[in-house]
Amino acid sequence: MSVSTVSTAPAGAPEAADPGPAWAEEVRALARRRDAVVLAHNYQLPEIQDVADHVGDSLALSRIAAESDAETIVFCGVHFMAETAKILAPQKTVLIPDARAGCSLADSITAEQLREWKAEHPGAVVVSYVNTTAAVKAETDVCCTSSNAVEVVASVPREREVLFLPDQFLGAHVRRVLDRADMHVWAGECHVHAGINGRQLADQATAHPDADLFVHPECGCATSALYLAGTGAVPESQVKILSTGGMIDAARATGAKEVLVATEVGMLHQLRRAAPEIEFRAVNDRASCSYMKMITADALLRSVRDGTDEVHVAPELAARGRAAVQRMIEIGNPGSGE
Ligand code: 13P
Ligand code: SF4
Repeated sequence: MSVSTVSTAPAGAPEAADPGPAWAEEVRALARRRDAVVLAHNYQLPEIQDVADHVGDSLALSRIAAESDAETIVFCGVHFMAETAKILAPQKTVLIPDARAGCSLADSITAEQLREWKAEHPGAVVVSYVNTTAAVKAETDVCCTSSNAVEVVASVPREREVLFLPDQFLGAHVRRVLDRADMHVWAGECHVHAGINGRQLADQATAHPDADLFVHPECGCATSALYLAGTGAVPESQVKILSTGGMIDAARATGAKEVLVATEVGMLHQLRRAAPEIEFRAVNDRASCSYMKMITADALLRSVRDGTDEVHVAPELAARGRAAVQRMIEIGNPGSGE
């Protein structure tokens, strides 16, 4: 089944390679001309974050996409994020500057696999992380992001079985917080976050004993962070499991002078802007998502100039996934994450 299609930039299109003030001005002018709002995820390259109208986590950006008056949404992030915007705002033109920007986590379950899993658990409520394809969302009861996953699962009556997918580390986090044994978790992972391991975190925590630990729940080291807190190796108050937007809120609120950050390294740019007085250090400075980094200055300029790459979601699929995505944006703290 064709899930979604994109029209891509013509090969050999001229590249504009000057990500400086002139580039930023041109991007903004071209965006204004097509009545476009430019959204950027926290993992985007610094110049993309700086030129965007809004920077935030996946929940905040979905909410902005749903509410925006602009005719066009230029989504600087990965493909499932742009698809989610299209599902929420089907009448708008949604562009992603490079449609090849995928996600290893979203690829870890197909709609067919989900249908088979559902057949093994009739009556279970399907909770899908937003990092999924439109075809998987069409098989889902309610979506969540890392910033509201706990609240979303908590909204499911306790007597109902839950199928949570596709991220095993986020699922383990939710199960731990809610102490919910009847929650089945798909064994998917993001290759970037799974690569940030407990040993790296423990070494950094030992070298920086006064630092706060900000850990994204997709990380392989999330359990280790809680273990360190449990053994007293790091005071519990210093360990925070947070979405990328939650990290920004926490950076503004913490009194710590140093913070160890366990997530994709693009996050450091927005954290340093939010709290320039704090020293932020990546737990693993090689944790870079090559998909997120496909949204280059040239690609964004081409996108606002030529209207590439347009994201299409098959209308019947979008209609089936819309209720699940709408429930997602209604649950959790509004206004945070940006
Ligand atoms: P957030 O929901 O914290 O923005 O994380 C989404 C994500 O994993 C993108 O890679
Ligand atoms: Fe997907 Fe991981 Fe990249 Fe996020 S960091 S877009 S979860 S591959």
